[in-house]
Amino acid sequence: MGLDARRGEDFPPELYDDILRGGRTKAQRSRRVHFANRRRTLVRRRLVSAPLSRPSEAEPGWVGPEQIAALVATGTTMHRLFSGRDGWIERLGRDLLISWNSPETLRSLLSELEGRRSQLALSIDRIFLRKRWERRESSELALVSGSPVLPMATTAKENGLSFRLRFDAGESIGFFLDQRENRAFLRKSKPTRLLNLFAYTCSFGVAAAAAGARTWNVDLSPRILEWGKENYRLNSIDPAGHWFLARDARAVFLYLSRRKARFDACVIDPPTYAHGRRGLDFSLPRDLGSLMEGLLPLCEPDALLLLSTNYQPWRPADLFREATRACHRAGVKVEPLAPLPCPKDLPEGTGPATRWLRIDPSLHISQSS
Ligand SMILES: C[S@@+](CC[C@H](N)C(=O)[O-])C[C@H]1O[C@@H](n2cnc3c(N)ncnc32)[C@H](O)[C@@H]1O
Repeated sequence: MGLDARRGEDFPPELYDDILRGGRTKAQRSRRVHFANRRRTLVRRRLVSAPLSRPSEAEPGWVGPEQIAALVATGTTMHRLFSGRDGWIERLGRDLLISWNSPETLRSLLSELEGRRSQLALSIDRIFLRKRWERRESSELALVSGSPVLPMATTAKENGLSFRLRFDAGESIGFFLDQRENRAFLRKSKPTRLLNLFAYTCSFGVAAAAAGARTWNVDLSPRILEWGKENYRLNSIDPAGHWFLARDARAVFLYLSRRKARFDACVIDPPTYAHGRRGLDFSLPRDLGSLMEGLLPLCEPDALLLLSTNYQPWRPADLFREATRACHRAGVKVEPLAPLPCPKDLPEGTGPATRWLRIDPSLHISQSS
């Protein structure tokens, strides 16, 4: 698809001029310098108050070159570059994705970004835009800078593991940067058998498999699970040695139980609400408890569980409360693990609410009461 087709009719054309280099007349260039200087002053005024307190104290909202170098040193080439109140910029390997709330504030940001490109020392091929102000009309990403003939699929790394990202698959690129610490923790804990519910592109499955686990990935969408298999292959892990179950997470317990599957780690990262097959919708506040109850008989006595949600009213304490209630009904006790730090490139409080729990075999209710 061509550049114009992607950007949509009402995309402000001057954004192109701001970010695409070359091809200007002398008069255009001098006019541009004049307006760029004026705009830079305005932008500075606006952005100084706009960014959130993290990621870098020296550069509010911006991840600095040292932080980028530290991420790259750990084999991570996808991370936040900027976090502001109106949106954010993600670096995804050699591409950038800007998620922004309005064309007006975006213009300021693009100008700011242009001024920082050499300081950030990043090789960037393209800039994509997630137009959050147009969500209802289009869920496509728009290519605003760079060649339209480059492949729409690319690969980027997190802690040395590779993941396939797509810029032509709707709003989501196939990877959630804000789960980096949780994936690292899972990998470090070296599980032997992981049940990855609501697996999406199986990033948790890949992290556990890279540490030697056998993994079971469950998601309603067979297409998404194929993408997950691709992620396994990218890391030289044969998907044939793992399981990819295109089913409703609530319907998989019986299947697994009949096969006597037992897990020492489980990731439960459901959507807040989703349409299911045969009218079986999923609602997190309504269904988390029963989901946990179905899951617990499949867990080893000291299994690790990760609960995660983007449901706004819920904080980690709410996840713990819901999980504790379900465990109590199932005659099992769980203890919360210490919260993990927020990834350094993300402002505190962004991302999903998450909580790691361990099933405590010594506190099994039927034994202690
Ligand atoms: C929030 S995403 C999970 C993200 C994933 N844990 C990760 O970090 O990459 C939610 C996923 O749940 C899947 N899904 C929605 N309803 C489902 C259901 N009832 N059973 C299984 N999967 C479901 C969707 O297809 C989607 O891929």
